[in-house]
Formats: sequence, C-alpha cells, structure tokens
Amino acid sequence: MAQRKNIFHNFINNPFVYKIIQKIMSGTSFRRKIIKNHIRKKNLKILDIGCGPAEILDYIQDCEYYGYDIDKRSIEYAKKKYFNKRYRFFCKIFNKKEISKLPKFDYIILFGILHHLNNDEVNSILNLCKKIMKKNCKILTEDPILIKNQNTIAKFLIQKDRGMNVRNKKEYLFLLKNHFKIINYKIVSQLFIPYTWFTTVCKK
Ligand SMILES: C[S@@+](CC[C@H](N)C(=O)[O-])C[C@H]1O[C@@H](n2cnc3c(N)ncnc32)[C@H](O)[C@@H]1O
Repeated sequence: MAQRKNIFHNFINNPFVYKIIQKIMSGTSFRRKIIKNHIRKKNLKILDIGCGPAEILDYIQDCEYYGYDIDKRSIEYAKKKYFNKRYRFFCKIFNKKEISKLPKFDYIILFGILHHLNNDEVNSILNLCKKIMKKNCKILTEDPILIKNQNTIAKFLIQKDRGMNVRNKKEYLFLLKNHFKIINYKIVSQLFIPYTWFTTVCKK
C-alpha cells in the first residue's frame, strides 16, 4: 500500500476533516458532477472501491451499493450516515475472496484510489473488477495528475498527497489500457483552489 502514514495524513483522513477539505478543494463538487453526468438510472448496482466516507451516496438515489475501504473510521462513519438495507460497507482490502460474494455491477467507482496503489495493486484490482462487470458496466476513475507547466500550487498540493503514486497521463493510461478497450479521459485544471484532476470512463 503506497500511502503516507504520519500524524498529519492520519488527521486529514478523519472522515469529518476529509469531508471539509474536499469541500474546500472542490473535490466534492467535482465528483458530484461526474456522478450526475453518468449515473442517472435507478436501481443500479454500484461498487465503490476506496469509498472513504461514501459521500457519493448523497447524489445517487435508489441503488444497490457496495463500498470497500481499508480505513475503519471512514467505514464506521459511512455505515452510520447511510444506514439502508441496500447499502453494504466493508472495511477490507478488495481481493479475490471478496468477489465471490459480489453480484455483477453496472458501475464501479474508483475515486481517488489509483494514486494510493502501486502498479501491481492497480493491476490486481482491475483484473478483479473485470470479473464482476456487467456487459455495459462502466468504471469511473478520478485521481490527481502531474502535468507539464502545472500551476505551482496545484503541483505542490498533489506532490504532498497521502497517495504516493500520483502519475502522469502516460502512466495512468498505460495501466488502464492493459485492461480496457474503451478509455475516455479528461484532464481538468481547476483555478481555485489550484488542482489538476485526471478522470476516466472505462469499458471492457
Ligand atoms: C482519497 S480517498 C478517496 C475516498 C473517496 N473515494 C472519495 O472520493 O471521497 C482514498 C481512499 O482509498 C482508501 N484506500 C487506500 N488503499 C486502499 C485499498 N487497497 N483498498 C481499499 N481502500 C483503499 C483510503 O483508505 C482512502 O479512504
């Protein structure tokens, strides 16, 4: 696992602190836009790996949701906030043992997780995802990215991220192309607070 583990990063991963930071950084609104643009139907089956406090449930109604995260505080928070018999939360690493218990999904959400994983971990998760995708399933990803001539503040913030595997476009695409035939990607540079996002929609 490639995550910085110090007092500061432990503090900012507290679900309450994390949510405030994400609001200030516009991460919350950015992810809300992605969800609203893609997930419009009801009763979809959605898998969210690295779900954190599962904030996407604020914008998705009537779905069957499975959230995985290794952070106990985030999972406890999500279980309390989104108590619903159609939502399941797991404080576990997403691995081979898990997929035998899962249905096939319409959407798999990988928001903010690829940059926490090394290449082997990404390949392993994507291989597992492919086994539980319905025919038209889409994988939605979102991560910080390093680009040329990046705003200095954006670059600084991204380099200090808890995830230690922030990549450039070539590196993210190299990983995804090993697994998916269709990859639509966007690089979005936000002005305030300066930050650069890499977001994709992948299909088998
Ligand atoms: C940047 S946060 C993103 C949280 C949430 N997806 C969001 O968009 O707000 C990354 C999350 O990935 C989780 N994580 C890191 N490695 C993981 C792994 N191997 N399996 C599951 N979750 C993981 C971390 O605990 C953290 O909550």
